[in-house]
Amino acid sequence: MVTDHKPHVIAVSDSAALAKAAAERLLARIAANGARVAICLTGGSSPKRLYRLLATEVYRSQIPWERVHWFIGDERFVGADDPLSNMGMARRVFLDRRAPASNVHPIPTDTADPEQAARRYEAELKSFYGAEVLDPSRPLFDVVLMGVGSDGHTASLFPGYPAMEETERWVVGVPQAHVEPFVPRVTLTLAALASCREMLFEVSGPEKRAILTRVLAGENLPANRARSTGETIWLVDKAALAENFRGR
Ligand code: 6PG
Repeated sequence: MVTDHKPHVIAVSDSAALAKAAAERLLARIAANGARVAICLTGGSSPKRLYRLLATEVYRSQIPWERVHWFIGDERFVGADDPLSNMGMARRVFLDRRAPASNVHPIPTDTADPEQAARRYEAELKSFYGAEVLDPSRPLFDVVLMGVGSDGHTASLFPGYPAMEETERWVVGVPQAHVEPFVPRVTLTLAALASCREMLFEVSGPEKRAILTRVLAGENLPANRARSTGETIWLVDKAALAENFRGR
């Protein structure tokens, strides 16, 4: 099935330029909101370079740390210190150096199961947001960072999984992953992820070319169904783009 949705693509030369462009967009969104800011981070390898950049003095000094809150779009159901932990990686690379502990909001994984973790995180998000229902005119997040997997998944929303059809819940447990690492996951749903001013996908490197080509062809994949109620941007580098891509 093909959708008529046309992703807004911004192409840059390489992974260094991509991280820089992502950092600039993030800072611009933070600067545009003079009040409390909420950023939803992502895991995997795609955002690592961005996180390293945010740890450098030039970027670190531009973040008003006291009023920025950091969430995570999906988590592997492993201990907080496990190398596979998405929030663990973000903390080690940049958050723990500057972010006040109370501004870092990990998905709890010390629960009985992913479902219970999902319920707890949903309650935390609702309490932060101050309402039980998302209002399109008042997004939950300023920025939601995203990556795409080789099967077209994003966050831990895998193709054909029931989590893809969830419309009420903000967070759900995913007992089995569709790709490595094969650990249970907890993921925000499409509805919760959509509630943002900007959803920013980062796609870099030749190993992403096949899936990016499918996304840009409008295939019905989780990554194509994940869209912001505000702006959705695909920040890609040349190595990930098919040679015949002409832009949209
Ligand atoms: C996760 C991620 C996931 C990731 C994609 C891309 O927990 O694995 O949140 O959605 O963004 O799988 O991963 P890479 O960046 O490692 O290719």
